Amino acid sequence: MSYPKILTANWGIEGSHLLSVVRARGAYSRLPKAFAMTPAALTQVVKDSGLRGRGGAGFPTGMKWTFVPPAEKRGGKPVYLLCNADESEPGTFKDRYIMWQDPHQLIEGMILSGYALGVRTAYIYLRGEFKFVQKRLDEAIAEAYAAGLLGKNIQGSGFDFDLYTHLGAGAYICGEETALISSLEGDKGQPKLKPPFPAVEGAWHAPTIVNNVETLAVVPWILENGADAYKAIGTGKSLGTKLISVSGHVKRPGVYEIALGYPFKDFLEKECGGMLRGKGFETLKAVIPGGSSVPVMTKDEVLRSSFDYEMLSTPMDKGGPGTYLGSGGFIVMDDSTDMVDSLTNLLRFYAHESCGQCTPCREGCGWMYQILTRVCEGDATQEDLATLKDLADNIHSKTICFFGASAAMPVQSFLLKFKDEFLAKIGALSAKGAA
Ligand SMILES: Cc1cc2nc3c(=O)[nH]c(=O)nc-3n(C[C@H](O)[C@H](O)[C@H](O)COP(=O)(O)O)c2cc1C
Ligand code: SF4
Repeated sequence: MSYPKILTANWGIEGSHLLSVVRARGAYSRLPKAFAMTPAALTQVVKDSGLRGRGGAGFPTGMKWTFVPPAEKRGGKPVYLLCNADESEPGTFKDRYIMWQDPHQLIEGMILSGYALGVRTAYIYLRGEFKFVQKRLDEAIAEAYAAGLLGKNIQGSGFDFDLYTHLGAGAYICGEETALISSLEGDKGQPKLKPPFPAVEGAWHAPTIVNNVETLAVVPWILENGADAYKAIGTGKSLGTKLISVSGHVKRPGVYEIALGYPFKDFLEKECGGMLRGKGFETLKAVIPGGSSVPVMTKDEVLRSSFDYEMLSTPMDKGGPGTYLGSGGFIVMDDSTDMVDSLTNLLRFYAHESCGQCTPCREGCGWMYQILTRVCEGDATQEDLATLKDLADNIHSKTICFFGASAAMPVQSFLLKFKDEFLAKIGALSAKGAA
């Protein structure tokens, strides 16, 4: 499969984080083209490209941008652009590479997106542990200011754009867009009920677009090459390239840029160097394809699937794997993996990270973790497994934010797809069917 490297074109080049190096390779060359267009025309290019948000939900980016109310309906309020660089989902570690290897790509993407949206002030919200990334970004931002690429009247266009980094305190929930906004405002990082959606009422009650790092970083390429060139990559429905963070039992874990539509089997063999142990796929047991929150896939499902939003989300009763591409955190597990133990480890994370506002999530995540701990210790019953499933079913979709579902889906899918391992742990393998 041949496709252009969009996000990773400068990775690995010496000094790829420096303005002088990337400018010689085309960085910021798209600004004059953008400033010659109307903001609405630039939004239309992004809309036409079919770009979908890369933070997890896959919402069409151009369409989200059109939800910002027009100036005459904003009552004098500004529009803010927030780059979501919280990246705390277990298994996802792509955004830090964009910011570390090529921070100017993100900055240019934010200037272009800001121009399209009529934004004058934008922020990059980083997880607390990314202090080292913040330093690199701040250095790149300072270079851009010094070169007249940020600040007042950029390149004589009349467009003013200021960009700041903001470090959170290291809480997974601050990646959820409304929690991110609260945290940026200086409040507790807790999600809010939607609607209103941030595009209508976000930071400081003003319209706010929240986009993932990868989403914003791809905008310069789309503007330079056109919406059709972007749409030409992929399956016709799942468009463009995607960064995949691979961890687990493969020979070459890391971050890879793939064209959507790429079969998992080829990806595992050609990019990841194959399974860590053994030849072929005889040791492959399971994959979580989109970060820890999405349903797990069995070996059979993995070997017939590809990086494709539509095919991955096809429900199991319609022949699909019933999962999501999510943020592209691809966690590979071989047959040495204890699935019950893995799930317990995941639930320890969710029980710890729940922000505590909703009873089903606050209590339920803790209970699910406690039951799983008992299952691991061989101290649980079939009734406990039934309670575990019941808890997960009652958390999903009954909470303020999607965190509840994110904790429930791993439990539901592990129980469904690896039921025998749970039964074996409680010594009830011969009495299947109770969970
Ligand atoms: C619990 C939780 C954590 C999230 N963490 C992130 C994150 O770290 N980075 C991110 O871009 N989106 C994250 N999201 C999704 C954001 O709420 C939002 O949809 C996204 O930033 C929108 O950007 P996009 O349209 O470019 O994908 C999270 C959502 C939830 C429910
Ligand atoms: S679902 Fe969980 S994380 Fe989200 S608001 Fe409710 S308690 Fe907080």
